[in-house]
Amino acid sequence: MCGIVGYIGNREAYPILIKGLQRLEYRGYDSAGVAMIDKNGSLNVFKKKGKVAELVAFAKENNTSGNIGVGHTRWATHGEPNDVNSHPHYSQSKNLVMIHNGIIENYAAIKENLIKRGHNFLSQTDTEVLVHLIEEIQLHEKCKLSVAVQTALNQIIGAYAIVVLDKNDPNVLVAAKKGSPMVIGIGEDDFFIASDASPIIEYTKNVVYLEDEQVASLRRGEQLKIRNLKDKEITPFIQELTLELESIEKGGYDHFMLKEIYEQPRSVLDSMRGRLNASTGEIKLGGVEDHRKKFEKAKRIIFVACGTSWHACLVGEYLFEEMGRIPVEVEYASEFRYRNPVIYEDDIVIAISQSGETADTLAAIELAKSKGALVLGICNVVGSTIARATHGGSYTHAGPEIGVASTKAFTAQITVLTLMALELAKVRGTLAESRFRQLLYEVEAIPTKIEEVLKLNDKIKEIAYQYKDSTNALYLGRGVSFPVALEGALKLKEISYIHAEGYPAAEMKHGPIALIDDEMPVFVIATKGANYEKVVSNIQEVKARKGKIIAVVTAGDKDVKKVADYAIEIPETDELLVPLVAVVPWQLLSYHIAVMRGCNVDQPRNLAKSVTVE
Ligand code: F6R
Repeated sequence: MCGIVGYIGNREAYPILIKGLQRLEYRGYDSAGVAMIDKNGSLNVFKKKGKVAELVAFAKENNTSGNIGVGHTRWATHGEPNDVNSHPHYSQSKNLVMIHNGIIENYAAIKENLIKRGHNFLSQTDTEVLVHLIEEIQLHEKCKLSVAVQTALNQIIGAYAIVVLDKNDPNVLVAAKKGSPMVIGIGEDDFFIASDASPIIEYTKNVVYLEDEQVASLRRGEQLKIRNLKDKEITPFIQELTLELESIEKGGYDHFMLKEIYEQPRSVLDSMRGRLNASTGEIKLGGVEDHRKKFEKAKRIIFVACGTSWHACLVGEYLFEEMGRIPVEVEYASEFRYRNPVIYEDDIVIAISQSGETADTLAAIELAKSKGALVLGICNVVGSTIARATHGGSYTHAGPEIGVASTKAFTAQITVLTLMALELAKVRGTLAESRFRQLLYEVEAIPTKIEEVLKLNDKIKEIAYQYKDSTNALYLGRGVSFPVALEGALKLKEISYIHAEGYPAAEMKHGPIALIDDEMPVFVIATKGANYEKVVSNIQEVKARKGKIIAVVTAGDKDVKKVADYAIEIPETDELLVPLVAVVPWQLLSYHIAVMRGCNVDQPRNLAKSVTVE
């Protein structure tokens, strides 16, 4: 949450900062701001409530020159989104400015002490408190900015990624992080800094991922210097980025979300690439392979995640229990971390996170580790905090997901979970060889089947038009399709602001059926399989109350088509793999409804892509 970007070198900083902020806008878009020091030593700060575009309009015609600067796009935590609470924030003398991502938990006590010592605060933010503290230390100890930052951070409880700019020393940026991500790009004679690599990629491929409690000094004309909070010098570990520029651009699509929905045949393939070979019956997933013995003996798997990733965990529960015959529990990370849960040393905890940054998931991981469990991660962002905090795991390799609503990450997570469940079944000997082989072929066929579903876009758009003005919607599914109902409802509510609920189809009659009238669309997954007849009965119950049925059915279906208002035919798929194909119509439907309602699809209100606060 919150995006930060910084530049020091010989180029004009402002265009680099603005472009970087546009790339980071998925992290928060309540307000944006920049600060640059020009060649005369003036520190110019521009900040504005709203999107980066509003900042650009506001700063237009002003002096934005300078080849050192910082920029910030905010997702509000302390203090409402307004111009004053926007970053950068000034120190007391206005000589320092700072941008911050994270939360300073003990800011109130520090603020009270600073006020007693004569400090005046303009905003309600925790960030302003920290920059005041840094300056007080700098002046009192007569020390370098980097030392003042170290000293101040030793007094801080909380999470942060900060960059500080000093008007009196326009040749250095000082950055530090704990719990929030930060990447430093090393150019030929310049440095870039950002929350992720997307603002850096077009300038350099050489990056250093700052570790927790490290303070970096990016000084013009010098090598990058890093010390930790105990003042130990750290040798920077320079890595080469594998990210490609095209992968973070819209590539002709109107929205990132649509691009990412359409990328799924490719991203699902990428998530299984080199891991599965149906013709030889091989499956090889580092995450499981490295901990084979633990998997053989494990008594239980606990999944932890939030949001869409939690829905993927629910699919995982069906897959692991069905294929690996192992008990599974699925936990909201935010509940698990505060519940004193019973965790045994022979439990395996699997944390799923697209961003690899979600604060609650990270806390759940630390808790599970402290109880001695093996903790594995399924993350999309390579090198992310969660990927590094876990004992091992598997990346989803879906490529950058920029639309705030998760789409391709979900299908990639389920693909990896399927491979894990299959490998688990192999290790534990719980699947007959013929069924194992059959499933490998079925998994390999998924990308082609998703491609088929994408061809139904026009029809789905027509359905979207019919239901775009609904105020409520119900999503139903049974078995492994129940989590898809939850995911369908989440997609609709988060981007179109239509109230939607996901339910196991048979639960409908225990309450939600009361909502059904002739205005209510009910979106049902009614594909062929063990629960088919039961779902058909549930559909009849809706129709008897004049509800509208929009059903995802198996190609060639006759029964549901007779009663449904609309039927979306998807290719026949093994029952266990239906979520990978059946979620796609719900993604497209939400997308089109949101566009038709004039909503900001890629940046829905109040949301941010990485939830790095609890
Ligand atoms: C919904 C969505 C969120 C995330 C959730 C977890 O479309 O994107 O619900 O799934 O915030 O995020 P990650 O997977 O990054 O931990």
